[in-house]
Amino acid sequence: MSKNQLDTKSQAWSALFTEPMSDLVKRYTASVFFDKRLWQADIAGSLAHAQMLATQAIISKDDHAAIERGMAQITGEIESGSFNWQLDLEDVHLNIEARLTQLVGDAGKRLHTGRSRNDQVATDVRLWLRSEIDLISVLLVELQQALVEVAAKNVEVILPGFTHLQVAQPVSFAHHLLAYVEMFARDAERMADVRRRVNRLPLGAAALAGTSYPLDRELVASLLGMVDAQGLPCVCQNSLDAVSDRDFAIEFSAAASLVMVHISRLSEELILWMSQNFGFIQIADRFTTGSSIMPQKKNPDVPELARGKTGRVVGHLVGLITLMKGQPLAYNKDNQEDKEPLFDTVDTLKDTLRIFAEMVGGQMNPVTGLKEGGITVKPQAMELAARKGYATATDLADYLVKKGLAFRDAHEVVAHAVKTAITQGIDLSELPLAELQKFNPGIENDVFEVLSLRGSLNARNTLGGTAPVQVRRQIERHVARLNTALSL
Ligand code: ARG
Repeated sequence: MSKNQLDTKSQAWSALFTEPMSDLVKRYTASVFFDKRLWQADIAGSLAHAQMLATQAIISKDDHAAIERGMAQITGEIESGSFNWQLDLEDVHLNIEARLTQLVGDAGKRLHTGRSRNDQVATDVRLWLRSEIDLISVLLVELQQALVEVAAKNVEVILPGFTHLQVAQPVSFAHHLLAYVEMFARDAERMADVRRRVNRLPLGAAALAGTSYPLDRELVASLLGMVDAQGLPCVCQNSLDAVSDRDFAIEFSAAASLVMVHISRLSEELILWMSQNFGFIQIADRFTTGSSIMPQKKNPDVPELARGKTGRVVGHLVGLITLMKGQPLAYNKDNQEDKEPLFDTVDTLKDTLRIFAEMVGGQMNPVTGLKEGGITVKPQAMELAARKGYATATDLADYLVKKGLAFRDAHEVVAHAVKTAITQGIDLSELPLAELQKFNPGIENDVFEVLSLRGSLNARNTLGGTAPVQVRRQIERHVARLNTALSL
């Protein structure tokens, strides 16, 4: 290695190389312009490694102090934007190490003792992803809170529930929104689970086989907060696996893809509900755009884009999983390709979650302390739609069952009643009692309560059902759960 630093890449590999890399190959193999994003994790990992080297007397206390001093200066330079990132130095690791050596001399050269970029990069990606998962987990809670807040105001609002996009049975709008809260709650659980496997230390595996220095890997894990719920260090237990495993990135992408799929389903509903044919809701103008030719248009661009970006996140999952399928042990340069999909997944997910929390729940007005500008609900349009498709036909069948009919017979009787109502262009509840009694003489005046939307809703009073009592219970459960989640 030349002088005090890794001046160029050809010098980085030393005397063995007889010809320089062409510019094209340099660009092809370099990752610094995207992996510089890992700089904080890279420095944190290096500082923990250096501290352990000093504790184990593998480097001197003075070298350790010099490394800390150099890293502090580098941190300042990167934060202020004055750090000179060089393509010639390939990646974030070599850029930082070269600068360190430039600043502190031989101590900088000793930092890489017992370490390889293979265990270094695996550690960096894990540290970076861990902090992103923590941010995403908070955003998932905030989106759930926004949905719960809107739900709390709309427990008694009725809309048609659909199966096959055909009117099925009336449901509470709050109940409908809480279905998404369940999805995002599972997403948060999945993120927490993925985090446990992200939070394990590869460092100390060195290139692939371990190292001949007396490293204390558990100390490094503890210094980096790679510990389990009991505070015990989490260390990757096989050096070959430690440097080559990217399961954690794939798992994260799978969890992120599911979040986006849930967002995409919600988007699809928002788009439908906003269309003139439904008219169930309005989203605030700042999430929509107009048309350059049709003056009347307000297009739901944000939900449409979220639905579109779901394809991109799912694509990254497929990219990452394909990246791994043909790799022999241990590290291969293929793994450098894990970063851009992972970075883009995180960026897309965070932006989408932030936008959705605001679009659904609105923004806090600092003067009133109230949230404003979330979705506007149109209860009348929802209720009108629920009246259209014989949404209470099941209730009539259930009513007949209570009068002694077998369910299948009741089903058949109601089918005839619906057919008659369709012919007359009216709702079941608009058929006179005498007419209804022709289908079954047991029908009495109390049938009209049963045929009402509200009666139908109230009747579904089982755990997880849409009856307002049940929905209010769920809202209370979510509020309590989400408050503790944020205070953790
Ligand atoms: N930039 C590389 C990556 O992202 C770092 C590890 C390089 N290791 C190596 N032996 N070339 O994977």
